[in-house]
Amino acid sequence: MGLEFFRQEINEIDEKLTKLLGERLKVVEVVADYKKKYKLPIFQPEREREILKRYDEQPYVAKVYERILESSRQLQTKMLLDKNIVLIGMPGSGKTSAGRILAERLLLKFIDIDAKIAEREGRSVSEIFETDGEEAFRKIEAEVTLNLLEHVCDGDCDCKCGENCECKLGDDCGCGCGTPRVISTGGGIVLNDKVMEALCENGLVIFIDRPIDAIRLDLANDDERPLLKKFTLEELYESRKGKYAAWAHNVIEGNKDPLWIAKEIERMLQEHIG
Ligand code: S3P
Repeated sequence: MGLEFFRQEINEIDEKLTKLLGERLKVVEVVADYKKKYKLPIFQPEREREILKRYDEQPYVAKVYERILESSRQLQTKMLLDKNIVLIGMPGSGKTSAGRILAERLLLKFIDIDAKIAEREGRSVSEIFETDGEEAFRKIEAEVTLNLLEHVCDGDCDCKCGENCECKLGDDCGCGCGTPRVISTGGGIVLNDKVMEALCENGLVIFIDRPIDAIRLDLANDDERPLLKKFTLEELYESRKGKYAAWAHNVIEGNKDPLWIAKEIERMLQEHIG
């Protein structure tokens, strides 16, 4: 029997698999609707672990299942979440660390605004502060953030729309670039009302209110926070805490680790879905 015979056999098996996977995804959609109706968690890792456990003895099948579960989780997140998740708070409050973990768990894209600024300008945030000053930085920060909200596709996805992609949040051009994102902002973003209004409009804004004493310990040897050369943490916090609280839809208080914060945000999302 030649290779073609076996390939034909594989094709027939794939056809059956495709049909079954399609059916499986339809049931996943029903589960997502159920979660929406009863405000259940989007991500239930224990259920995924239970499924994967069945394939402990079949590592190659387990790998395929990991992808199937990933794809199901992505579909559910897409059906349940129609807003970006925006993290605000003081420098050193854990926005970036928690945001990364959250994005990984919900399979969403993670955006760090400071990193976007550094990428666009070709220099670090500290360098921008040093050479051009705070006012110039704030202008760039506003431009980058508004542009990010305006154009969901930033060119690094598999978007079929090409360079001029005009997808908006919620659009589906097939590559997922219209799916909500987890956005970690710089500590001073709340100083700009226009930017905050735009972030609030299509985002769930969460203030990570970490105690100043805990932040101080973490930032003791950090040179990448230019404003802390000019102001104390207390001064910055006092002048901003009212704004953080006013813009936030939800607040997370206390000195919590990033994984705890990510899980707490997932819990908060349950209240906002549907
Ligand atoms: C700033 C915070 C920084 C960065 C810039 C200004 C601020 O971001 O945007 O140095 O005004 O608090 P982090 O909050 O991520 O440190």
